Amino acid sequence: MVFYGSRHRYNAGNSLVLVVVVLGAFVLLTRRMCLKLYSEGLPMQNEKWISYNALAWTEAIIARPEDYAHETEFYINIIREKARIDVKTLLHPGCGAGCNDYTFKKHFRVTGVDISDGMLDIARGKNPEVAYLHGDMRSLNLKERFDAVAIPESIDYMVTLPDLERAINAACRHLNPGGLLLVAAKVREEFSENNFCYTGAKDNVEITVFENNYIPEKNPSTYEATMIYLIRIDGRLSIQTDCHKLGLFSRDEWFMVFKNAGLEVTQAPLHGAYDRFIMGEGQYPMQVFVGVKPL
Ligand SMILES: C[S@@+](CC[C@H](N)C(=O)[O-])C[C@H]1O[C@@H](n2cnc3c(N)ncnc32)[C@H](O)[C@@H]1O
Repeated sequence: MVFYGSRHRYNAGNSLVLVVVVLGAFVLLTRRMCLKLYSEGLPMQNEKWISYNALAWTEAIIARPEDYAHETEFYINIIREKARIDVKTLLHPGCGAGCNDYTFKKHFRVTGVDISDGMLDIARGKNPEVAYLHGDMRSLNLKERFDAVAIPESIDYMVTLPDLERAINAACRHLNPGGLLLVAAKVREEFSENNFCYTGAKDNVEITVFENNYIPEKNPSTYEATMIYLIRIDGRLSIQTDCHKLGLFSRDEWFMVFKNAGLEVTQAPLHGAYDRFIMGEGQYPMQVFVGVKPL
């Protein structure tokens, strides 16, 4: 009994020391993390973006496929007009939650590829007719070839010129002769920092997302998109943050990358695709680069 009693006391003392040590380490760590957060900004996400995985479900509430229809029809007209073959099949790298595909699929047989499983899950629910695959647009190597490849919203995730080259070359490899690559892009010379707001509500869920775009002085060929999510479920608020690093390339670089991939390149301005989300005064000019693979 005494043995057990003393052993018990001995364990209790030990546990107390352990709790104090763990608590101390927790306080120190949290303090260091907070200091780091304030001095360096929010930690940058890399390919495991919260927005496109744990928070991908919010897309179904803040992004309505009908709202993408006008812009997607614009791309479809360019594809029809510029391709040298009758376009029946379309590959969409960086397809996200499938809002563009909702309109693309009315015109083409669509294959969507994305690096984020969370977005693919939402896309599959929205477009059961579309073939969705997990993959990286920089290293894509499918057996099939397509009449058109479209990257309407995701090319900014190419942060360096070699990454952009990989993505454009991979897209080109998947094109049939006479087929067309369409990329909607921001051009470095035209890009300006903006703030955006997206909102949506469904049943007991209300979501507001604020996005800030910022060009860091140290690396002006990139920009940061920092998102703050305000999510209320049954009136209870939770706040989530995410920060993405994205690439900015000059007009010359865009033309060079398309030409080096063996494409005949032209360019058309895209007006107002995001204007409705801009907070206050602002402009968000974009360009559509079109490359045709020679017959
Ligand atoms: C702005 S979202 C696209 C939204 C899309 N238009 C929609 O309808 O939901 C950007 C997407 O690009 C994807 N992405 C980023 N880098 C990628 C890569 N290297 N390969 C494939 N997809 C990528 C992200 O996972 C994300 O789903």
